[in-house]
Amino acid sequence: MLNGKPIGVFDSGVGGLSVVEEIFKQLPGARIIYVGDTARVPYGGRPAKELIAFADEITNFLIQSGAWGIIDACNSTSAVALDYLQEKYVNPIIGVVEPGVKAALQVTKNNRIGLIATEATVKSGAHIRFAKLLNPNVHIYSLACPDFVPLVEAGEVTGDRTKSIVKKALKPLMCLGIDTLILGCTHYPYLAPVIKDVLGTDINLVDPAIETVKEAGKMIFNGHYRSFCPEADDQYFVTGDPAHFKTVGDMLIKNSLPIIRKVVL
Ligand code: DGL
Repeated sequence: MLNGKPIGVFDSGVGGLSVVEEIFKQLPGARIIYVGDTARVPYGGRPAKELIAFADEITNFLIQSGAWGIIDACNSTSAVALDYLQEKYVNPIIGVVEPGVKAALQVTKNNRIGLIATEATVKSGAHIRFAKLLNPNVHIYSLACPDFVPLVEAGEVTGDRTKSIVKKALKPLMCLGIDTLILGCTHYPYLAPVIKDVLGTDINLVDPAIETVKEAGKMIFNGHYRSFCPEADDQYFVTGDPAHFKTVGDMLIKNSLPIIRKVVL
């Protein structure tokens, strides 16, 4: 029954492509329907109520478009809307917060973990709650980095200006003794080389996409993803400008995305 049904993936913009790239690696043959809500990016400064409404609209669109399993590839909506979505829809829906925490707990040696994320994600406290549940001794140091998403959306992931913005933003994390840093926004893996450059190589950077897709493979496909329809096309939708998404998306994934279509939700 699941054969041929695509995975729905959504984010506020190009950030969810970091999760799509991981799907390509771990689940070859899986089909994707992607929504980037670029008319309303950034999500990070928005209240939880609004984020729940956006996530609901997009999930509904993805399911109506034929998706079965859904990956909420946005930490901000995963942090505040996942319970609501899982309650409302029968489809398997997975977020990026819990997998990111699990991955970080697996690598930390000193139980001092940094979290960089949007204001909405930090304010939700979702990572801390889940981490404490799994390991009451862990310390999570959260830092909102509101300047990072606009950089990635503009495709400015390298260069002096980007490095100086990243350096300034990460200063509060410098002397906390963290050995692990969760990239708690799906846009941030595209800044990972700059973040590494600023923080040094002693800190493990955790991209939650890896664990998310591992869990999605088990949950959504039950190990049957290989029988999906590799010959069918992936579909990409945005609420804003398709041409801009294509230009930046192609640059970020170092590949050519198929045609990007505009959708009104
Ligand atoms: N990439 C999203 C996240 O993981 C949203 C970022 C934003 O639009 O502010 O939080």
